[in-house]
Amino acid sequence: MTRVSLVFFFAMATFMAAAQNAKQVKMEAFIDSLLQKMTLEEKVGQMNQYNGFWDVTGPVPANGDAKMKYENLRKGLVGSVLNVKGTANVRKLQEMVVKESRLGIPLIFGFDVIHGQKTLAPIPLGEAASWDLQAIERSSRVAATEAAAMGINWTFAPMVDISRDARWGRVMEGAGEDTYLGAKIGVARVKGFQGNDLSAPNTIAATAKHFAGYGFAEAGRDYNTVDVGTATLYNVIFPPFKALVENDVKTVMNSFNILNGVPGTGNKFLQRDILKDKWHFNGFVISDWGSGMEMIAHGFAKDLEQVAELSANAGSDMDMESYAYVTHLAQLVQKGKVSMAVVDDAVKRILRVKYELGLFDDPYRYCDAQREKDMIGNADQMAAVLDVAKKSIVLLRNETLAGGKKLLPLSKTQQKIVVIGALANDRNSPLGSWRIGSDDSSGVSVLDGLKKYSGAITYAKGADLVIGKTDFINEVKINETDKSGFKQAVQLAKTAEVVIMVLGEHGFQSGEGRSRSKLDLPGVQQELLEAVYKVNKNIVLVLMNGRPLAIPWADEHIPAILETWQLGTQSGNAIADVLFGAYNPSGKLPMTFPRSVGQVPIYYNHMSTGRPNPIDLVFWSHYGDVSNKPLYPFGYGLSYTSFRYSGLKIDDSNPAAIKVAVTVTNTGKYAGEEVAQLYIRDKVASVVRPVKELKGFSKFSLNPGESKEVVFTLTDQELGFYTAEGVFITEPGEFGVMVGGSSDSGVTGVFVRK
Ligand code: NOJ
Repeated sequence: MTRVSLVFFFAMATFMAAAQNAKQVKMEAFIDSLLQKMTLEEKVGQMNQYNGFWDVTGPVPANGDAKMKYENLRKGLVGSVLNVKGTANVRKLQEMVVKESRLGIPLIFGFDVIHGQKTLAPIPLGEAASWDLQAIERSSRVAATEAAAMGINWTFAPMVDISRDARWGRVMEGAGEDTYLGAKIGVARVKGFQGNDLSAPNTIAATAKHFAGYGFAEAGRDYNTVDVGTATLYNVIFPPFKALVENDVKTVMNSFNILNGVPGTGNKFLQRDILKDKWHFNGFVISDWGSGMEMIAHGFAKDLEQVAELSANAGSDMDMESYAYVTHLAQLVQKGKVSMAVVDDAVKRILRVKYELGLFDDPYRYCDAQREKDMIGNADQMAAVLDVAKKSIVLLRNETLAGGKKLLPLSKTQQKIVVIGALANDRNSPLGSWRIGSDDSSGVSVLDGLKKYSGAITYAKGADLVIGKTDFINEVKINETDKSGFKQAVQLAKTAEVVIMVLGEHGFQSGEGRSRSKLDLPGVQQELLEAVYKVNKNIVLVLMNGRPLAIPWADEHIPAILETWQLGTQSGNAIADVLFGAYNPSGKLPMTFPRSVGQVPIYYNHMSTGRPNPIDLVFWSHYGDVSNKPLYPFGYGLSYTSFRYSGLKIDDSNPAAIKVAVTVTNTGKYAGEEVAQLYIRDKVASVVRPVKELKGFSKFSLNPGESKEVVFTLTDQELGFYTAEGVFITEPGEFGVMVGGSSDSGVTGVFVRK
């Protein structure tokens, strides 16, 4: 930079900081003056959220919904409504509040915009497999654009709960097992949702949820007890939340679970000490659906009045569906059990977000019926979700067959393709769970997608996966008995050059309240796979699932396996593009796939036991009936081409910025993308560190024969850790380093942090 441009740069930076400051001052003055006009009841009203009247996303409200509480809206006793669909309905409620309540403070409308509103991207776990932060940010922007066009200004996403337990149904909603990757993806999602200007027509407020520990539910059963040590809390669970707070996430949702004996909603340590005091979070905390009231069932509060007292004092600013604040908070203030300062602080936090959304300038800015029509499912949005869908697919196996060829990619002149599996002909299940804003069966099925490539396709269902109707509310019933379609599928398979079997889970087998005790292919699908294999071994197994599955038989026998999660609206097109090689798969697993459910929790960044290695006696840490190794490790994923890692170079002369460089070469025949991953091991530390920790990654594409040097920089942030007391420290000493295309292999070296 020249001197002149340097001066210009500093002048601009100072000017922008001053402008930002002036905006801040103006906002605070506005909010302070509004607060002064508010009665205690009106303040409490801002802290109250009702469900809308179209869908429920939790147990049906006992005390009615927004419709039954119209009079409360008119009295200004409601700050927010969730689950309202469409601009006309949003406008109706907003008008009621703005025109009829005394102060006309606009509502903020919340919704679970988890992987899209109408146009759906892959489920978040699938999208995480792309390791492509730009594509993920774009996909969240698509979601924000459509949600904002439909009247919504606040999403309850992203979920940044780390989880190591594939039984937990909500692993589909997060970014998997790793803290580093989870934080990066969470930040990308917040940027996508919120952008730089919250009042813009294509941005909405985001939520970091669920604070904290919800992903560590015992035995993977949703809402179950969480008991973790402080080292795990600080090093594994907190960092993604902290990263989101540092990136200005506007709201945080607390959690249903008890954490070390205290429920999230009544947890002062989490909400006040950590979130608001230590991390200086200045947005607001929303409870989860009825999580306040559930403190009674937990045995933490005796009645709803105590729920209100404990929640408010612990720092839960807005009550979703417990009705605790609207019923008791004003009296609690009068009785001196909750201070006015606590209420004022909560209300100011809520009003700030409304202000930044531009709702005080124009309460109807998200209610433009024409924009709603124009913005839904437009070509750019479809292209963005197709792009991320392709990038989310993970190639798990592609063995070389007897003749020296591989099954994938399929050739466009392939003579006869037989497709088998109920999921292949399904436009609903591939949309995945958590998509209450979208339309049923609005996805592209695998058959739809494949037919664009080849006319030589025949299809047999083989067996139904589910029995009866499925929807967001019902438990999915799996077909465990009916094999009447096997015969036709087997007959057809006999005549095929290649059989594509689309098997896995139904889209509603994962998600909230949808834990599983088994991780195999549900129902009769395993039997179907084996029956077809008996007559034709040229099988490409296309997996659709919302969590890691344990499929050791398939891994041993099936030559080609593609993990496609639930890819959303463009599912079938993305899968067909990959099967036929129009897109070379580049996804890497964000979560370990076990060999058996008994290995769970299984994750790559575990600690070492004192007896990690096999010895010829039994006295080492292992199972007698299954290997310690996963079926597919974290970070794993193949390509139609191959990549070689070589020439690791380390420069540790500057402890503040240690450089690690490696050369990656495309040694195969196809152009392809690779995700180079850097892992460290802090060999000896005052608190035991994991055997491996991801601390950098880079995704890039290479043509056949092309090489690239990838350089990573390791600072204290990557090399330090939290003590059990929550203090971040760095220690000098030796570190192992590995760079590769998966967590289980790569080029290795050692450096010393002085
Ligand atoms: C309960 C879920 O845990 C939470 O993630 C969601 O945002 C709320 N319900 C609202 O639907």
